Amino acid sequence: MRRSLVSAILGRLAAGGGVTRRSSVIAIDGPAASGKSSTAQMVAEKLGFLHVDSGSLYRAATAAILRLEKDPSRWSEQSVLDAARPLELRAARTSFYPILEGRAIEEEIRGQEVTRNVSRVAQMPRVREWVNAKVREAAAAKNVVVDGRDMGTVVFPDADLKIFLVADSRERALRRLRQRGTPASEQLLDDETIRIKERDERDAKQTVPAPDAVTIDTTGLTQSEQVEQIVGLSMQRSR
Ligand code: C5P
Repeated sequence: MRRSLVSAILGRLAAGGGVTRRSSVIAIDGPAASGKSSTAQMVAEKLGFLHVDSGSLYRAATAAILRLEKDPSRWSEQSVLDAARPLELRAARTSFYPILEGRAIEEEIRGQEVTRNVSRVAQMPRVREWVNAKVREAAAAKNVVVDGRDMGTVVFPDADLKIFLVADSRERALRRLRQRGTPASEQLLDDETIRIKERDERDAKQTVPAPDAVTIDTTGLTQSEQVEQIVGLSMQRSR
């Protein structure tokens, strides 16, 4: 962490030789329901960084276009971008969160309709550019833990630490049901596992570990074990 702080305060020598101010970035990527966001949030809190959930921006763009047009077959890249334009990423005490028309939209972006349609929006290259710019902007001035699919590959190829979380699809489905407070019958678990595998397929293109990422299989790990591992790695890197 010492290096993180020093680099944040003093800046670091840029490739071109000049000194640029640069905050620290920990990138956590992985497939749906692999525990990225909750882990990223807890790592951020432990290190005194801010959490940025890039998926929340794809979800917010999807919620914004859904407010205007319910039929996804009528969406174009431009109409999604226009709908997303008023979205802001606002910093709170421990994380950034999306704001639309002056209000937090957390509940709306976690709903089924957004989840069903978000991968379609995430395939649009200009929407990806829009999200990436917002996330980079958030990271420009703060030390951040960012989570998503392509944070370590595309958005922050120079991140201080890159983690790729994986977990068995049934375990991920079980965690999702627990998160929603739904009792896990075999049928519900089967259905959720299918939904998660479908989303894996839709997101496969951008869900790739960076060559220098540390992959952690969280199937048999508790949340706090995952968090400790990542915080430990971050400490090691900064020594
Ligand atoms: O992380 P979460 O599941 O909330 O992300 C929602 C969707 O946003 C994913 O299913 C994926 O389609 C998209 N996404 C992405 N790249 C990211 C983060 C999320 O394509 N970096």
